[in-house]
Amino acid sequence: MATAELALVKPINRLSRFGAGAAPRLGGRRPPSVVRMAVGSPPPAAGATTALPKKSPKTTEIKETLLTPRFYTTDFDEMESLFNTEMNKNLNEKEFEALLQEFKTDYNQTHFVRNPAFKEAADKLQGPLRQIFVEFLERSCTAEFSGFLLYKELGRRLKKTNPVVAEIFSLMSRDEARHAGFLNKGLSDFNLALDLGFLTKARKYTFFKPKFIFYATYLSEKIGYWRYITIYRHLKANPEFQVYPIFKYFENWCQDENRHGDFFSALLKAQPQFLNDWKAKLWSRFFCLSVYVTMYLNDCQRTAFYEGIGLNTKEFDMHVIIETNRTSARIFPAVLDVENPEFKRKLDRMVEINEKLIAVGESQDIPLVKNFKKIPLVAALVSEIVAAYLMPPVESGSVDFAEFEPRLVY
Ligand SMILES: [Fe+2]
Ligand SMILES: [Fe+2]
Repeated sequence: MATAELALVKPINRLSRFGAGAAPRLGGRRPPSVVRMAVGSPPPAAGATTALPKKSPKTTEIKETLLTPRFYTTDFDEMESLFNTEMNKNLNEKEFEALLQEFKTDYNQTHFVRNPAFKEAADKLQGPLRQIFVEFLERSCTAEFSGFLLYKELGRRLKKTNPVVAEIFSLMSRDEARHAGFLNKGLSDFNLALDLGFLTKARKYTFFKPKFIFYATYLSEKIGYWRYITIYRHLKANPEFQVYPIFKYFENWCQDENRHGDFFSALLKAQPQFLNDWKAKLWSRFFCLSVYVTMYLNDCQRTAFYEGIGLNTKEFDMHVIIETNRTSARIFPAVLDVENPEFKRKLDRMVEINEKLIAVGESQDIPLVKNFKKIPLVAALVSEIVAAYLMPPVESGSVDFAEFEPRLVY
């Protein structure tokens, strides 16, 4: 899971910068540093890299922005009523039983096993690429862990109302814990570790109503699938860019994400009121746009990472957006016309405006002047986003909610 949301009114900055003092010594035997991303003072949230040993920890501020992967919470009482089989006759118990059996099979139980190649590869990664790799691991780990927390809580809360759905959530949280743990082990190759216990307590949680949790998590699972499989296929075809072994695990890994997405698809079909009216169409397009714009702006700030593994960032992102949109069109009642070249032109203009906003943010001006300079840029960004939202949509979705979505062929 890799959920993100759209920043409409704030500039989007680079996520984290490790100060020289806290940078891990390359290839050394120094104990790992603990990366903490926490709510700090002054607001907005700031994080810290804490060097071990625990005595007199050396901390360096790292920025957390609106594009940092979020933690979610929801209305669990409403969730309980949605999954009450007596209240909701659309819940196809046989279908959920079948899904549960698939999750119980646990295809990837023995998949996430590390080997010495990880540390060797990490030691070879130097300079800016090393830093951006750390950031990639850190962001991915946070996103996976965010899924773990939400699914675990849903598994706990739905136990009485709907034990089958509850168990599926628990098994999905198992998968996400595995993914987060594997990424965190990856960070240890760089002498770092995310303090997940600290994250759980200190992070702000974003509240979404159940309906929005469904849209957002469905999209984030599917976009996660397309990102992982695209990187995997690219590196399989171009092994000279295989700079760190984690990507070799993406093929089976993304199948977990795909299964998670399919489960949300089944959940959405069991709640036709979330799919079959004009509001559902507007919200579907809104969530698609949020997720696509967030990814595009985020990735365009990190071209060094994608170029480092031999990808063209914008081409990669457009491929992922188009495929995710095609997948989402099977369930969402309306999606964006992302294959219209005008959509990409709008995204590219958003990137340009965002770059200007970042430049203003990093300038030496006093805050008042900075804010003044940002006004027209923020207005321009918002108008591009609104224009993209208002582009003629593509009507989509399944008419027959009883029919289960066909599986993707891997
Ligand atoms: Fe997932
Ligand atoms: Fe995951």
